[in-house]
Amino acid sequence: MQGKKAIQANAYYSKNFDEIEYLDEGLFCIDSEGFIEKVLTKDDENYEKVRRRYASEGQLKVLEADQILLPGFVDLHIHAPQWAQSGTALDRPLEIWLNEYTFPLEAKFEDQSFAANVYGEVVHTTLRNGTTSAVYFATVDRKSSLLLAEICGEQGQRGFVGKVAMDDASGCPEYYRDQDAQASIDETEAFIQSVLAIRNTYRQGVYPIITPRFIPTCTDESLKGLGALARKYDVHLQTHASESDWAHHYVKEKMGENDVKALNRFGLLGPRAIIAHAPFLETEDQEIMVETRTTIAHCPLSNAYFANSVLPVKDFMAKGITIGLATDISGGYTPSMYQAIRQAVISSKMLQDGVEPSRSKDLRGRAHAALTLNNALFMATVAGGQSLGLPLGKLEAGYIFDAQVVDTRENIPRFYEEKHVEDLLHKVLLLSQTVNIKEVWVQGEQVI
Ligand code: GUN
Ligand code: FE
Repeated sequence: MQGKKAIQANAYYSKNFDEIEYLDEGLFCIDSEGFIEKVLTKDDENYEKVRRRYASEGQLKVLEADQILLPGFVDLHIHAPQWAQSGTALDRPLEIWLNEYTFPLEAKFEDQSFAANVYGEVVHTTLRNGTTSAVYFATVDRKSSLLLAEICGEQGQRGFVGKVAMDDASGCPEYYRDQDAQASIDETEAFIQSVLAIRNTYRQGVYPIITPRFIPTCTDESLKGLGALARKYDVHLQTHASESDWAHHYVKEKMGENDVKALNRFGLLGPRAIIAHAPFLETEDQEIMVETRTTIAHCPLSNAYFANSVLPVKDFMAKGITIGLATDISGGYTPSMYQAIRQAVISSKMLQDGVEPSRSKDLRGRAHAALTLNNALFMATVAGGQSLGLPLGKLEAGYIFDAQVVDTRENIPRFYEEKHVEDLLHKVLLLSQTVNIKEVWVQGEQVI
């Protein structure tokens, strides 16, 4: 029994894209490595025996009747330094916002104590909101990017951390870029090695991720070198692609081809690669995404400000593209994946119905585009795990125990027994606030 524990809880998780599994007083047995060893339901013949065994060892935790257990969230795309400007300047277009606000802010992260302050807070805040795994862009500065990896490690969040590579003088300001392509590659390689060196220091692990910001800020030479690093180290990779009218056309002009085609040519796509946004992927781009098994990080709130469009999630998924969910702080202003879930549903419904009332109903929207809350929860949990190659997002044997305890006694109306067990889950997904999250667990340990 050493290091083992069990949690008895009413729990929900995604069985698949459409369906939810609900367990009434399920017994979740967690092994000493933080994996779920087995899950017993109340009708299992060993339920009482196993329950009593954990209880007698003082290793049984029983949630209250008004609390539910949910999987932790995977935020597939978040800019840690931009937490400092969350809620700022979202009325500007992407290209202005980057140059006037974002690049000057990110340049400040050479100051290690400023970086420590912001990074400490963003990791705590996202954990506090139920994000147990986060895929971060840091900044160009290698030293403070490593600090972010250490902070994730110490606070108990499963961080995927990237030192941002950007070296093209035509797309980056003088004060905020790698010196040249070779520096971009060398600094990224040094960063990968430093993170790999501390990777196993932390129970939940911490991972390096190769991070060319996006094609407008990177030279061909650096993209080629980063592709070589992806092959050499077999680590994760992230970038932005085809995000807005401006970004999509800038790349067409610069490269004579679309982002995804160029990224593929440089060896930057694959089962460990995550592309943020991508609403403007054309047919050939979509095929390349499927062939290379590259994931999209869908950032619906950010897209509402910057993307000039809504990602057609269901059409892209039907083609075979994996799509997870993300906040994209600070293109999206909130650290809460609950808000990402809500916005994914809202945006998709508006894509389906269309928004221009002067158009006839038939011409107004895109058929079958609406996502359900069940779909969005799957994207925020299981799909994120799939794209990272980790058993995350389900509360089943063999999965890592990353979870949140949500108390339904505040903010959520409970005047009667819900008609259907999923009704309570939907109330929680739409109405719960940060204060409703009473505990957060990562890899079998309580971190909040
Ligand atoms: N494209 C390049 N950099 C960024 C960024 O920081 N945020 C968003 N939303 N898009 C980008
Ligand atoms: Fe982004």
